[in-house]
Amino acid sequence: MQGKSKNDLIIRVGGEGGEGVISVGDFITQACARAGLDVYTFKTFPAEIKGGYAMYQLRASTEAVYNQGDIFDVLCVFNGEAYEMNKARLKPGHALVYDCPGDFTPDIPEGVHAYPIPMTQTAKDLNNVRAKNMVAMGALSVLFNIPEASLREVLTAKFARKGDAVVQGNITAFERGLELARALKKTDPWAIGTPKKDPDRDVIVMSGNNAIGLGAMIAGLEFFSAYPITPATEVAIYVAKHLPKRGGTLIQAEDEIASISQVLGASYAGKKAMTSTSGPGLALMGEMIGMAFMSETPCVVVDVQRGGPSTGMPTKHEQSDLFLAVHGGHGDCGRIVLSVENVQDCVALTVTAFNLAEKYQCPVILLSDGSLAFSTQSSPYPDPASFTIVNRERWDGKGEYNRYKLTESGISPMVDPGTPGGMHIATGLEHSEKGTPSYAGENHEIMQAKRFNKLKTVVNDVPLTEVDGEGDADIGIITWGGTIGVVREAVQRLRAEGIKVKGFYPKLLHPLPVEQFEDFGKGCKRILLPEVNFLGQLAHFVRAETSLRPESYTICGGLPFTPEMIVKRVKEMLA
Ligand code: COA
Repeated sequence: MQGKSKNDLIIRVGGEGGEGVISVGDFITQACARAGLDVYTFKTFPAEIKGGYAMYQLRASTEAVYNQGDIFDVLCVFNGEAYEMNKARLKPGHALVYDCPGDFTPDIPEGVHAYPIPMTQTAKDLNNVRAKNMVAMGALSVLFNIPEASLREVLTAKFARKGDAVVQGNITAFERGLELARALKKTDPWAIGTPKKDPDRDVIVMSGNNAIGLGAMIAGLEFFSAYPITPATEVAIYVAKHLPKRGGTLIQAEDEIASISQVLGASYAGKKAMTSTSGPGLALMGEMIGMAFMSETPCVVVDVQRGGPSTGMPTKHEQSDLFLAVHGGHGDCGRIVLSVENVQDCVALTVTAFNLAEKYQCPVILLSDGSLAFSTQSSPYPDPASFTIVNRERWDGKGEYNRYKLTESGISPMVDPGTPGGMHIATGLEHSEKGTPSYAGENHEIMQAKRFNKLKTVVNDVPLTEVDGEGDADIGIITWGGTIGVVREAVQRLRAEGIKVKGFYPKLLHPLPVEQFEDFGKGCKRILLPEVNFLGQLAHFVRAETSLRPESYTICGGLPFTPEMIVKRVKEMLA
């Protein structure tokens, strides 16, 4: 399978939404992580609660993994639709586990190792149709060496809230799956690998959305307001679980306009505040993001991107809100835009987002995406003490207070409401240093310069770009967001073949770190810029703001790139 190591196993489970595909994937992921493997998962499901094709792909490796991988080694299908969706990718050497008798009879390609398992029938015989997925999980455990004891533990823990009868019924189905697979003769080479023992290994397995919530807690979040929207809702669910215990406040607002307005109010009152949303919600927040910039009010807005425009493809992956994040709003309106690569970044860059918002007193938009939102990955356990936390500069109480005092850095100390001597007018209107509304043209020019100039030093604050590789390159690959992990692996594979490639991974997308882009470009003959949107949004900004002329490689089919796609495109460019 593309020469990949047998210690790097990819299992794809497909079935109908409601059949428990996601649970099987989650349980196996947890069991593999407990066994000490690095895991990276990808799931996709329909917008409907029941029905439609649901898929879970998990990659478990003895080495570090940066993405969901190319194609599965093992395919497990619960129904005919899932088989149809995947059969073109079944190649000699792959393993296929399928429901038999089921609603389909697969025409199994030659060389594929097929294992028929009576999933539906066994669940019916046990009078527990819901447990079809646990029969399948039992079979997968035996066939691919996924630790049975861990699976039992995870199953018991996850279904405990549904009652003892549900747990017991599922354990019985799981055990039937084990027996059914033991009766089969294994002919394929696939099994999860044995990791090297690492006594210092301290990892956590969580989704991008949960990691953003955790990052916000570490940063010192005090107020959160959001309106639920796929695929961002789990950020709010995480925060709802943890923020009140820490004395913070969470509101489910009536819409996104209300949520960002509440966030600005809380921040004005001196609290660290955040909202989370997806593209349609960010569009609604446009006016208040302008208010945050004009009134110099710190706030963090998380945008978990999804397929658009309009209601688009809400459960599908896309990186297509960059234009909106950078320029959404009216008038000349500044902000900082960061973008995360993986779960580890979801923690660290959320803290950075708060730090930058507090320091520069402006809106910071943190871009994640639908693939990262639900992707679970193993990442180093984040130690809260290892993060630097920045708080806004507050007035020292000396002399006369001017809220928008013109300073060398452009940053003016804030006051919390009620501070003696700190009274001022807070308004979205243009204003003087005191905060008094002013429509004088000269004043507007001075104040716009103040608000924009202070953002010029953002690029020096934290290392928000990364160069992957040394020396000159025939092809340099620039990319952003979740596509970075895919490019990292493609770059490794290409270099292993002796091809001169380098990667450039910006996490600060606005203001664009122009100098770093230029430096990277100097050492590259040609530049490729893959991104998951139709228009080539980052490529547009790179062409507009730097001297580089990247060649766009865009897809927007609801799925992320695979490393193989990048490898192939680079070779085509060189041919
Ligand atoms: N016994 C008992 N319960 C079981 C079970 C079993 N053997 N297997 C799964 N379940 C439960 C799960 O615990 C889960 O319950 P919960 O909702 O209480 O957590 C539920 O059945 C769904 O199973 P799960 O494995 O999580 O998902 P699935 O593979 O069946 O797919 C979804 C269903 C998740 C795709 C679908 O229900 C869904 O939510 N779609 C998204 C809808 C959406 O977001 N729409 C908004 C668009 S704007």
